[in-house]
Amino acid sequence: MKILITGVAGFIGSNLAARLLKEGYEVGGIDNLAYGLRENIPDGVEFHEKDIRDRGIYGLIEGVDAVFHLAAKNCISDCQADPIETADINVTGTINVFEAARRGGVRKIIYAESSALYEGRVVFPTPESETKPESFYAISKLAGMYFAEAYKRYYGMTFTALRYFCVYGPVQDYRRTIPPVMSAFIIKLLKGERPVIYGTGEKRRDFVYVDDVNDFHLQCLRNSRTDNVTYNLGSGENHSVLEIYEIVSRLLGVRLEPEFKPDLPGEAQMTLADISKASALGWRPKTDLRTGIMRSIEYIKREFEEGRIK
Ligand SMILES: NC(=O)c1ccc[n+]([C@@H]2O[C@H](COP(=O)([O-])OP(=O)(O)OC[C@H]3O[C@@H](n4cnc5c(N)ncnc54)[C@H](O)[C@@H]3O)[C@@H](O)[C@H]2O)c1
Repeated sequence: MKILITGVAGFIGSNLAARLLKEGYEVGGIDNLAYGLRENIPDGVEFHEKDIRDRGIYGLIEGVDAVFHLAAKNCISDCQADPIETADINVTGTINVFEAARRGGVRKIIYAESSALYEGRVVFPTPESETKPESFYAISKLAGMYFAEAYKRYYGMTFTALRYFCVYGPVQDYRRTIPPVMSAFIIKLLKGERPVIYGTGEKRRDFVYVDDVNDFHLQCLRNSRTDNVTYNLGSGENHSVLEIYEIVSRLLGVRLEPEFKPDLPGEAQMTLADISKASALGWRPKTDLRTGIMRSIEYIKREFEEGRIK
């Protein structure tokens, strides 16, 4: 099978590409390298440096069996700062990918939504039925969902929507202005600097390791029960930012008092996935938090050793 990944130079996309190649799939990828890096893309991927908003992608999607649409503007604070670009990439770009898939006769599209769709909800664990987006990012993801439904309705296309919770692991994009929490803590502590915590550190997040998410990606390709279904992909348990800090600090053997700054805009107090739908297919996250964080630490240490983090 030939699979195309948008956002292939990013965190989840590059990990997925590596896994698919290992499983014997033929893999192509699109990325404009706005956030992702060429060096993240595994050897063996047929790479096209293109913007998902470009109609020039139509030809690239012909003859492809399935598309994973992961490219997005996805840092919540960046999206809050620029709602127009957020809509342009996450809504118009997403429709362009769906349209390319329609024209190319793609059998199935698996695309990224987000746990941010639940940010205004207080039902925990949160099932897939409970959407209440508030931030520009979350609203842009919800718009993608409605377009997928319309493509299903009018063209009979097949989709699987994935609502990732906090996916973590090697290749996570630590270069953002405000990096994801684990990478941020690891980098600061390795440098001997005080990590920053936004808010009180009591916000709780459901973390899921990237290899476990890839196990589910394979199900999306191999199990037709996933056709036209939306799944939460989390671990079904959550941890406070302070707890994560404690684990990272212990694993590194470095203790420094974190610096507390005001809360970031648009961030939910808590996320916790109801993963019963994904679990009903036999999927469950296998990587415990310490193992996952240890692998993230090893990755970031290599980035230091190879001079990519100064
Ligand atoms: N990582 C998480 O915890 C998480 C949580 C919820 C949802 N998601 C969603 O999963 C998907 C993948 O996330 P990620 O963590 O790998 O993000 P990432 O930023 O590491 O990767 C996204 C990739 O998309 C590319 N991209 C952005 N705009 C583009 C454009 N206009 N044209 C082509 N390529 C473009 C970037 O260069 C980057 O390589 C995103 O849709 C994100 O919203 C991720």
